[in-house]
Amino acid sequence: MSAMSAMCTTTLLLLSWILGAEAQAIPLPQSCIRCHGAGQSAVASLEGQHQEYLEKQIKDYRSRLRIHSKMNEITQGMSDPQIEFFAGYFSKLPPRKNDDLARLIPERIQQGERIANAMNCAVCHGADYKGFGITPSIRGMRRSYIASQLKDYRDRRRTNESGVMFSVVQFLEDSDIDLLTEFLGSLP
Ligand code: HEC
Ligand code: HEC
Repeated sequence: MSAMSAMCTTTLLLLSWILGAEAQAIPLPQSCIRCHGAGQSAVASLEGQHQEYLEKQIKDYRSRLRIHSKMNEITQGMSDPQIEFFAGYFSKLPPRKNDDLARLIPERIQQGERIANAMNCAVCHGADYKGFGITPSIRGMRRSYIASQLKDYRDRRRTNESGVMFSVVQFLEDSDIDLLTEFLGSLP
């Protein structure tokens, strides 16, 4: 193949990836929604999350600093610009509404709020829990996802962080974590 036709092939491949013309080795945003979209359990919604945070997490999956077999596999072949594309794409969409609100109980939401206040979650995640930069928004997340992540920080399974989240949650019981998920999940 001549250098010219090799260049044309590369350009075409890149174009078809950007336009979504055909299935590619590198996934399109729609393929992320298959798992991250409505009605899922223990999976974060990505819409409206901060670009810097998404970018860091995807890169950490790629380098296996953050371990999850599916996400490690999906991010393997990604280049930095592709990761930046996904982070930018999802950060600009309106946040998805928490879809497991039905199970929330008012007294437990209040108990959860007291724990969040006592533990100063808002000092880093902001008074509105919307976060900033590499500190994620934790507002209105699915309870099952918040619970899985707080337990992963506590039990040293999620270690691609400076250790702040470990020090915050290290002494929390599962029952405290449940209450926190009710409070955070209840925020619109
Ligand atoms: C097969 C299902 C599946 C697919 C497809 C998938 N993900 Fe994930 N993703 C998950 C699961 C499950 C988690 C939570 C893993 C964990 O606990 O670390 C996750 C976590 C993430 C996180 C971390 C979120 C956070 O709040 O910390 C990001 C960012 C992410 N995925 C981006 C993507 C992108 C971008 C795509 C498409 C290119 C994608 N995912 C496709 C299942 C999937
Ligand atoms: C000292 C600052 C600080 C405090 C206090 C803090 N956080 Fe965090 N939190 C962070 C940072 C930074 C991250 C991102 C860490 C990473 O990259 O894994 C994070 C991540 C998280 C995540 C993961 C979100 C996701 O999308 O995966 C959850 C959930 C969370 N915090 C909840 C809490 C709760 C609940 C409290 C209070 C009990 C709390 N945080 C207190 C700084 C803080």
